[in-house]
Amino acid sequence: MSNEQQTRVYHPSAEVVKNAAVSGIDAYNALVKEAEQDYEGYWARQARELVDWKVPFTQVLDESNAPFFKWFADGKLNVSYNCLDRNIEKGLGDKVAIIFEADDGHITRVTYKELLAKVSKFANALRSLGVKKGDRVVIYLPMSIEGVVAMQACARIGATHSVVFGGFSAHALRDRINDAGAVTLITADGQFRGGKALPLKPIADEALALGGCETIRNVIVVKRTGGDASFVAGRDLWYHEVVANQPETSEPEWVEAEHPLFLLYTSGSTGKPKGVQHSTGGYLLHAILTMQYTFDIKPDDVFWCTADIGWVTGHTYITYGPLATGSTEIVFEGVPTYPDAGRFWKMIQDHKVTVFYTAPTAIRSLIKAADANPAAHPKNYDLTSLRLLGSVGEPINPAAWEWYYENVGGSRCPIVDTFWQTETGGHMITPLPGATPLVPGSCTLPFPGIQAAVVDETGTEVPNGQGGILVVQRPWPSMIRTIWGDPERFRKSYYPDDFKGKLYLAGDGAIRDKDTGYFTITGRIDDVLNVSGHRMGTMEIESALVAHEKVAEAAVVGRPDDLTGEAIVAFVVLKGARPTGEAAAAVVKELQNWVGHEIGPIAKPKDIRFGENLPKTRSGKIMRRLLRQLAKGEEITQDTSTLENPAILDQLKHSV
Ligand code: PRX
Repeated sequence: MSNEQQTRVYHPSAEVVKNAAVSGIDAYNALVKEAEQDYEGYWARQARELVDWKVPFTQVLDESNAPFFKWFADGKLNVSYNCLDRNIEKGLGDKVAIIFEADDGHITRVTYKELLAKVSKFANALRSLGVKKGDRVVIYLPMSIEGVVAMQACARIGATHSVVFGGFSAHALRDRINDAGAVTLITADGQFRGGKALPLKPIADEALALGGCETIRNVIVVKRTGGDASFVAGRDLWYHEVVANQPETSEPEWVEAEHPLFLLYTSGSTGKPKGVQHSTGGYLLHAILTMQYTFDIKPDDVFWCTADIGWVTGHTYITYGPLATGSTEIVFEGVPTYPDAGRFWKMIQDHKVTVFYTAPTAIRSLIKAADANPAAHPKNYDLTSLRLLGSVGEPINPAAWEWYYENVGGSRCPIVDTFWQTETGGHMITPLPGATPLVPGSCTLPFPGIQAAVVDETGTEVPNGQGGILVVQRPWPSMIRTIWGDPERFRKSYYPDDFKGKLYLAGDGAIRDKDTGYFTITGRIDDVLNVSGHRMGTMEIESALVAHEKVAEAAVVGRPDDLTGEAIVAFVVLKGARPTGEAAAAVVKELQNWVGHEIGPIAKPKDIRFGENLPKTRSGKIMRRLLRQLAKGEEITQDTSTLENPAILDQLKHSV
């Protein structure tokens, strides 16, 4: 460990070590060794111990069609059975599965028995509408019990769900329905966030009216806000009506381990989001194993992951992991700042939350809010129920880490900084709370059984202390299986020829500590931005901008932002004259709203600058590195003599 780091190591207390599933660094090392010595044996053991199989598997890893790997392929199981029925069989029927807190503070508790009844009824309803194994169902719902029920019901009947985040626009929803060829859309009339009722069904209607969604036979609508929901006869149905007369039991569909449990669209280097396809068996295994090792889940825990079910974190650590481990979890409809910025702390206090998992952006914004309004500071709340904290979605800066550790965790709770991705299904590099000494800002060491490395452009490992490209050296059970409908894009994006198709390319840069080998993620190495923990492709935003009638050309880059991690900066060439002053400000607003409407509010550029042209080389390539420097307000150090039009740099230097 380098000297600088030595002063900032946080060791788990003897108490934490004693009670942990992985107790002490030797126990961690033993698991790593077990996986190294017999990779398939290690994963097979975990899969047999943690997952209930209807038909036990005899094959473990099948690499014959690499990089299209298969795990446990001849085994059969059902995820919903593993999350619900088996807990009830173990005597947990009356245990609370979900504590739902609505935006207005109203609380609903659902036991495992009740949840199974809800899931079964909705599974039966879907079946009665002709939804079968392998059909795709798009879920466009707010954070709700019905959201979890809908996902579990799809899993129960073997339908493949594709959840679309409720903040995405009609266009984004249409594209995802179209790409997946979905037969059913499940939505709500609206959603409550921060005391406001926002529409959803009208956006769903707009999406379907855009065309390209002809595969949709039914739209099932959850009544939430009582807002406008005009129905198309024969197509649109109320959720409460379709479940009304359904029996409370339903036979699970036993599916092959490789059956696609879900698709989840995420941003990549092109304008088109990719449908990340996940499996059933391998995915479930990792959801359970990480609940046990990373979150060290115990029967009395109250687990709270603040993510939305529209993102992968909400899939693995709301809908599947906590339920598959028979835990009690919080599902929260609202936002951290309503009715005030003490909401998270109040909820931890009220529900006696023990494990709390959130994103650095939320922490940073709550630090700021507590500075501005001392009443919203966590010290005003009793947070002594907490025993473990987690972070996910983006690098956590050491200052935010330390504030979180001291003010939320009372300098008592380890923080697991979990590095992973939509594509990885679950944690990849993360501390284990009772085993790994913590260093703020580092996600520390690979999860047992995950073999990660930092390499150069040729795929050769670089020495510790030297930055490089993060890769995973062996396939793992919960990995992405393919990109829906585009296997070639899968191969090229994740198993590129540069690495002879042998290494999984995460798309992030990383550096390992000289002495400890601890990993620190240094950020994306592709054209993907991370804004408030949300992944956005620069090309997606560029495509949205050039679809506006006034825009001739656009280039989008990221710049570091204290609050959101990265901020979106767009350099735009308009079709007419370059505007200045108030006229420019008006166009900025117009374009921001346009992107919000085309993709969703999370994609709105923070800063839009206009030039008569973009900086290009003589061969016509946009000089993105230069744009990044301009966005950051840095002096231009690179040679601009090859620029076709150096004069435009002055135009692009300043925000409107
Ligand atoms: O850049 C990394 C960052 O988020 C990316 C994955 O985004 P997404 O697929 O939306 O999944 C987010 C939730 C798992 C990664 O490529 N990232 C995620 N977690 C961390 C992180 N960067 C640093 N530290 C983390 N703990």
